[in-house]
Amino acid sequence: MGWLAESNWQLHISLIVLLSMHTKGALAGPVVDPHVTAVWGKNVTLKCIIEINGTIIQISWEKIHGKSKQTIAVHHPEYGFSVQGEYQGRVSFKNYSLTDATIILNNISFSDSGEYVCKAVTFPLGNAQSTTTVTVLVEPIVSLTKGPNSLIDGENQTIAAICTAATGKPAADIDWEGGLGEMESSSTLFPNETVTVVSQYKLIPTKFARGRRITCVVRHPALKKELRYPYTLDILYAPEVSVTGYDGNWFIGREHVQLQCNADANPLPMEFTWTRYPSGAPYQSVHEYLQHFPPLLDNIL
Ligand SMILES: *[C@@H]1O[C@H](CO)[C@@H](O)[C@H](O)[C@H]1NC(C)=O
Ligand SMILES: *[C@@H]1O[C@H](CO)[C@@H](O)[C@H](O)[C@H]1NC(C)=O
Ligand SMILES: *[C@@H]1O[C@H](CO)[C@@H](O)[C@H](O)[C@H]1NC(C)=O
Ligand SMILES: *[C@@H]1O[C@H](CO)[C@@H](O)[C@H](O)[C@H]1NC(C)=O
Ligand SMILES: *[C@@H]1O[C@H](CO)[C@@H](O)[C@H](O)[C@H]1NC(C)=O
Ligand SMILES: *[C@@H]1O[C@H](CO)[C@@H](O)[C@H](O)[C@H]1NC(C)=O
Repeated sequence: MGWLAESNWQLHISLIVLLSMHTKGALAGPVVDPHVTAVWGKNVTLKCIIEINGTIIQISWEKIHGKSKQTIAVHHPEYGFSVQGEYQGRVSFKNYSLTDATIILNNISFSDSGEYVCKAVTFPLGNAQSTTTVTVLVEPIVSLTKGPNSLIDGENQTIAAICTAATGKPAADIDWEGGLGEMESSSTLFPNETVTVVSQYKLIPTKFARGRRITCVVRHPALKKELRYPYTLDILYAPEVSVTGYDGNWFIGREHVQLQCNADANPLPMEFTWTRYPSGAPYQSVHEYLQHFPPLLDNIL
C-alpha cells in the first residue's frame, strides 16, 4: 500500500512538472471560459480565442468521455467546417475566423454536462489546448395558487397561498414577502436530479389583512433575475351591522326621516331585512331598538 501511494505521488509530481513545462513553453492555451453553466433546452456558447504567433493548421472542440475524447467540430483552412455525428444540426461555429473557435451548442440536455477541450494545431509551435467544464442547470417551472380553503376572519392558521418551483436543478430558493404569516417548504428530489420545491404561506386570518399583498419570490441560478408572484389576500368576515340616520329628534308628525342599514361584510350581504317591533312595543330610543335588532343576515355565510 505504502509503495503504491508513494509511486502515485511521484507520478503526480511528474505530471505537474510536465504540465508546467507545457504552459511555460512558447505556446499558451487558447482563451476559454473555464466554467460555463448551460440551461437545459437552451443554447450555450463555448468561447475559444486563439492568440498564437504562427500558422494555425486546424482548430477543433472535443468532448471528454472518461479516458477517450469525442470530436465535436473542426475548422480547417482548406477543408472548411465539419460537425461530427450526433452534433450535426446542433453545433455551429460563431465566427469564420481561424483565430476564433467559439461554438454555439443548441438545445442543451443533461448529457451535455462535462469537460470540453478546445484545441489548436499550429506550426511551428505545435498543439495548444484549454478545457471548459459545462454544468447543466434546469430552470424551475414556477406557479402560485391560492390555498385549498377560504380565509375566514377569526379562524385558526390557514394556508393562504402555495408557491411551487417545479423540477429545477439545483433546487430553487423560495421566499415570501408580506410579513403576515409564516412559510413552510418541502421538496422532492427526482431521479434526474431535479427538485420540486413547494412553499405554503400560512397565516391567521383577520379582516384587517383583507386586500394586503403577499409576494412569492423565487431565485434560481438559471434565472437571470428573481421571479416575483404577488397575491392579494381575500378574507371573508361576517357582517357588522349598523343603523344610521337617527338624529335624536323624531317627533310625531315629522316626515321624511330615513334610517339606513349598513352592513360591512365580505362577501357583500345579499339580502337586507328590516323588522319593526310590533306597534306599541315600548322602546325609548333607536339605541334600544338596535339592542333588540334581530340578528340580520345570519344565514348569508
Ligand atoms: C438557439 O439556437 C437556435 C438555433 O440556432 C435558435 O433558433 C434559437 O433562437 C436560439 N435560442 C436562443 C435562446 O438563443
Ligand atoms: C507574437 O509575437 C509578437 C512579436 O514577436 C509578440 O510581441 C507577441 O507577444 C506574440 N504573441 C503571442 C501570443 O505570443
Ligand atoms: C468574428 O471575428 C471578427 C474578428 O475577430 C470580429 O470582428 C467579429 O465581431 C466576430 N464576429 C462574431 C459574430 O463574433
Ligand atoms: C431538444 O432535444 C430534445 C431531446 O433532448 C428533443 O426532444 C427536442 O425535440 C429538441 N428540441 C429542438 C427544438 O430541437
Ligand atoms: C390551530 O391549528 C394548530 C395546528 O394547525 C392546532 O395545533 C391547534 O389546536 C389549532 N387551534 C385551534 C383553536 O383550533
Ligand atoms: C426530471 O424528472 C421530472 C420527474 O420525472 C420530470 O417532470 C422533469 O420533466 C424532468 N426534467 C427534465 C429536464 O427532463
